[in-house]
Amino acid sequence: MTTRSIRGLWILLLALTLAACIGSVGRRGGLDGEAQAKLPEAVRESYQLFAQKCSRCHTLSRPLGAFITDPAHWRQYVTRMRRQPGSGISERDGDRILVFLEYYAKEKGRDEEVTNE
Ligand code: HEC
Repeated sequence: MTTRSIRGLWILLLALTLAACIGSVGRRGGLDGEAQAKLPEAVRESYQLFAQKCSRCHTLSRPLGAFITDPAHWRQYVTRMRRQPGSGISERDGDRILVFLEYYAKEKGRDEEVTNE
């Protein structure tokens, strides 16, 4: 096999790995691309950290589907999750993740108000 075709294989492998990673974002149960695009920029960064840190032990639909609309409640949850063995979430990560969760809780609360009318 020539050096060139070996390099070609590596590129192919890299592309496949990348595709697998991107594909798994949806499977992790997170927000779809459109919903993510609607997030304010500061919140989007927080969302990305959330998606990375909070999908290790369960899918993202667990937090996203939880009926939590009280920001204080989220703080308790994130603290509880941080304390799970091997969570890999530092206190600083927790604070950054809360930016998204608090935003999301507020948005969700608003949706519910609308449907209750
Ligand atoms: C180290 C593993 C781990 C990580 C990382 C983790 N969780 Fe969890 N999570 C769990 C386990 C285990 C449960 C179920 C037990 C429980 O509710 O305490 C759970 C349950 C939950 C629930 C559902 C509770 C319920 O009553 O249905 C929510 C919401 C949640 N996690 C949010 C998060 C958020 C937000 C993050 C990121 C900050 C996160 N989790 C990161 C392990 C983890």
